[in-house]
This record gives sequence, C-alpha cells and structure tokens, in this order.
Amino acid sequence: MSLSKEHRPVLLEETLDFLAPKEGQYYLDATFGRGGHTQAILDRGGLVIALDFDQEAIDFGQEQFREAIAKKQLILIKDNFKNLSEIINNLSKTLDIQLAGVLFDFGTSTEQLMSSERGFSFNAQADELLDMRMDQDLGVKAGDLLIVLSEKQLAHLLMEYGGETQARQIAKAVNRIKKENPQSLQYSATLLKIIEQVKKSKSGKLHPATKTLQALRIAVNDELHNIELALPAAFHLLKNSSALDKRLVCISFHEGEDRLVKHFFKKQSEQNFAKLLSKKALTASDQELSHNPRARSAKLRALAI
Ligand SMILES: C[S@@+](CC[C@H](N)C(=O)[O-])C[C@H]1O[C@@H](n2cnc3c(N)ncnc32)[C@H](O)[C@@H]1O
Repeated sequence: MSLSKEHRPVLLEETLDFLAPKEGQYYLDATFGRGGHTQAILDRGGLVIALDFDQEAIDFGQEQFREAIAKKQLILIKDNFKNLSEIINNLSKTLDIQLAGVLFDFGTSTEQLMSSERGFSFNAQADELLDMRMDQDLGVKAGDLLIVLSEKQLAHLLMEYGGETQARQIAKAVNRIKKENPQSLQYSATLLKIIEQVKKSKSGKLHPATKTLQALRIAVNDELHNIELALPAAFHLLKNSSALDKRLVCISFHEGEDRLVKHFFKKQSEQNFAKLLSKKALTASDQELSHNPRARSAKLRALAI
C-alpha cells in the first residue's frame, strides 16, 4: 500500500510511542484523513475503526486500504467524530469491540488545504467558491457566513478563532462589499482581495489570509464544539473497555483545540480517573520540521486510562 507522496502523518513516532498499538486490539482513528496514522497502527498488527466526515477521505481510504478492509482489519466510516459513542455502540452489536486506544489528529489534512475548488486555499481559482466545508453534508459555507453575520459578529469570529489582529478592519471591508454586491462574497477571490487591501504589508511568514481562513474553517465545521463532545465520549468508551493499558492521544494545531484537550486531560488526571503521559505537550522535532513544516504548530497530549 502506498500513500500519496506528499502525505506525512504528523508526530508519527510520538503517537505510536503513546498509543503503543498491540496486535489484535482495536484502535479508533477518529480523523482518518489519508490514513497515515491508521496505516502505522495496522503495520503493528492493530485493528482500526477509522472515521472521517469528508467523503473524499473515505473514497481515498476505500480505494487505498481495500485489502485491510476486506480482511476486516480496518472498518472505515463516514461520520462526524462527535457521534463516536453511537458509532461504536452500533458496531458492538455484531463485534466484540474493546477499544485499546483512541487517536484524534484534529483540523484539516494537507490534501484538503491543497485541493482547489473547496475554498481552503490562498491560491484560489477566480471562480472558486468560498466553501470550506470538510463534511459536504453540512449546510453553511464560509461565503454564507460572510453574508449572514453582522460586522460585529464577523470581527468577533475572526478574533476568537483566528487571533486576527485586524479583524475589525476586515469585517468592515466585508460589510462594505455586502452592501454593494453580496453574492461576490461567495467567492474566495473576493475575500482574498479584501484581506490584501486591508493588510497592505506582507510582514511575517504567514500568508495575510491565514488567520481569517482558519477562523472561517473552524466556524463552518463547528470544530471546537465537535471536540468538546468527542473527548468525554472517547474517554468513557475507553473507561468501559476491558482492554488493558488504554490510551487517548490528541494532536492539535490550534490553540483553541489544545486548550480543550489540556483542560479535559487535566480534569481526568486530577480526579485520578487517568494519568497524564507527559506533563507538557510534545512538539515536532527539528528533523520532522525540516521535511514537514506543517508540523510546526502541532501539539500532542496523551492520557493513560
Ligand atoms: C489532520 S487530518 C488527519 C490526518 C491523518 N491522521 C493522516 O495521517 O492521514 C484531519 C482529518 O480529520 C477529519 N475531521 C476533522 N474533523 C472531523 C470530525 N468532526 N469528524 C470526522 N472527521 C473529522 C478531516 O476531514 C481530515 O480528513
């Protein structure tokens, strides 16, 4: 099985150290993506239940992991990880699933960010819709948000989820366009042009639109709320499993994600329900950063249950 050339699972060695996959045990990969982490668990003889709410990721997995699916080493399901209790309970009607570990690798995959036509990228085509839904079944696109939110609500969103210091100016400029030609806000190019005009200087390493696009993506996909629902669900599944030495591993890319994980883990360890496997979050080594710059903001936390 070969994964796409660009695909590099983030913090792979560290994930495997903490997850410690064992032969014949079940692991839930809640964020399949291109299956980099799933493949590594399968390579160690683990059985994987993998979720992703992006149909493109599922289509890729069904093709690339055909053999593992046929051998029942991998069960691949299109669903939101916020529903993981129901998903595992349903599977448990016909299979004896005692989870030994759960992995979350939050956010977007490189393939989603690079794919044109979905509005994630800075290099949008002229007619590319500002969509940003990872799950094509979701109703609201990023362009819709620009139109329905008030100037104040948009500024708050850009600040809160993106840490965008020029949030108010960007929201003001969006509001101006909304009055003149609201439908143009459905296209990535309009927003990118607005940001370019507001942020005249291209200081720093980040593209000027990075924070705005991140904030809109988080809102469109309800990313933080999904994590809030999924962490206790994963924890309870592990707690109720008869497997030994169970692990919950989370990789975050955004401060908001990491804050939720940090607080949840701290609460479980303070109440002696679980043990923190590292006091501080782990980050990528210089060696990993040299070939995978995307890992620069990754933080890994792990819990033994
Ligand atoms: C960073 S990528 C995972 C990469 C993966 N670990 C790999 O090695 O290929 C995150 C994936 O999680 C999916 N995802 C994000 N939020 C999700 C959610 N709430 N439910 C299901 N999948 C989700 C995204 O569609 C994306 O494919």
